[in-house]
Amino acid sequence: MPGLAIVGAQWGDEGKGKVTDLLAEQADVVIRFQGGNNAGHTIVRGDEVYRLHLIPSGILYPGKLCLIGNGVVVDPKVITSELDELRRRGVDTGGLRISANAHIIMPYHLLLDSEGETKLGKLQIGTTRRGIGPCYADKAARLGIRMQDLLDEKILRQKIYAALEPKRQLLRPFAKDPSIDLHAMTEEYRTLGHRLEPYIADTQRIVWDALDRNGMVVFEGAQGTLLDIDHGTYPFVTSSNPVAGAACVGAGVGPKDIDEVWGIAKAYVTRVGAGPFPTELEGELGDRIREAGGEFGTTTGRPRRCGWLDLVGLRYAVRLNGLTGLAITKLDVLTGIDPLCVATEYSGPEGATFSEFPYHQSILHKSTGIYTELPGWQEDITGARSLEDLPQTAREYIEYIEEFLGVPVVLVGVGPGRDQMIWTEAARRLQQAAA
Ligand code: IMP
Repeated sequence: MPGLAIVGAQWGDEGKGKVTDLLAEQADVVIRFQGGNNAGHTIVRGDEVYRLHLIPSGILYPGKLCLIGNGVVVDPKVITSELDELRRRGVDTGGLRISANAHIIMPYHLLLDSEGETKLGKLQIGTTRRGIGPCYADKAARLGIRMQDLLDEKILRQKIYAALEPKRQLLRPFAKDPSIDLHAMTEEYRTLGHRLEPYIADTQRIVWDALDRNGMVVFEGAQGTLLDIDHGTYPFVTSSNPVAGAACVGAGVGPKDIDEVWGIAKAYVTRVGAGPFPTELEGELGDRIREAGGEFGTTTGRPRRCGWLDLVGLRYAVRLNGLTGLAITKLDVLTGIDPLCVATEYSGPEGATFSEFPYHQSILHKSTGIYTELPGWQEDITGARSLEDLPQTAREYIEYIEEFLGVPVVLVGVGPGRDQMIWTEAARRLQQAAA
């Protein structure tokens, strides 16, 4: 499978990092195509735990080409500290490349993100306050600063000046904040540019070369389909497009370069931040899933909202991304819960029912799941390495999802370890067909 996109099929945190990490072993190139350090993934390697926000997880394979595409927004301070930490732990970071066209998160983006949220009060989105929205806003307004700008002091100063000008009013409360002083910023970001210079590259060309050689390229998405700025639960979304189509724009390839699209979904659903969540469980069961699944944000530490598996939302994700395979993660977290519920429709306002994801915000806000009950299992499944190792009811849960969505399940996660992943026959078939 020369071009394989990995995308989140829910509201993020589905375990994309782990899947990418597993696939990276066989890949020639791994490239991130959107988002920034609002993402976060934890990779467990034996006793070692790595927490990364920007650098693709493939970096743990020595020399593996790990790219940050043009569609990503990069906070140079975060990436330098991730590099320092990896080096301190003896990881070879020589395979990292950052697109010269990737936009940069500046200190004023962080201030504006926090300030914007505070001003929204009760209506706040619950952003990660990492400056993501304001940075993408500057990109669209053509006031952004890109990685390549860090390499030229004169250009950098001019661009920071131009970006600050229209924000004077908004930034007035921070007028004395030294972090947004034009001269201090120019100096500091020029220094960061020096440090990052060896990594700045024409990443799209690296991807083209790999594809032309028939190499395998993994396009790693961040966040999830329902957080997509166009297709998600707007305005409770992130400021980029986590759907598979964005892999083309954010990495610089054509649609035909992507052969497979795998969606990652948890066996249940979580969401961080505000916004509609039709299958949310607010009581004891929600708490139980949160504890069992360790559902606390990697980036902000916030407790995640938890709920039943939402097949209406997943069907929407299948269509939007053109999913060819589905990975179900954290199945083990559901052990001991009986019966299990999956939403197959929504109940909306005034007795209406919806079998498709409603496009209207007011309807979605008032929708709750209509559930089908499936039998649970009590057995410990963390040692299962094939579908046959699972109890029958766990297998039936997977089969139900597969049949409802019409997409083969390629991977099933049964624990946090690298080996705690079942590769199904469908995954092997797809891999062989592509090879
Ligand atoms: P932002 O991306 O920081 O602007 O946040 C916008 C929304 O996306 C908020 O609801 C965040 O909680 C959510 N979000 C952003 N990144 C992630 C992620 O990696 N996982 C889950 N939710 C995320």
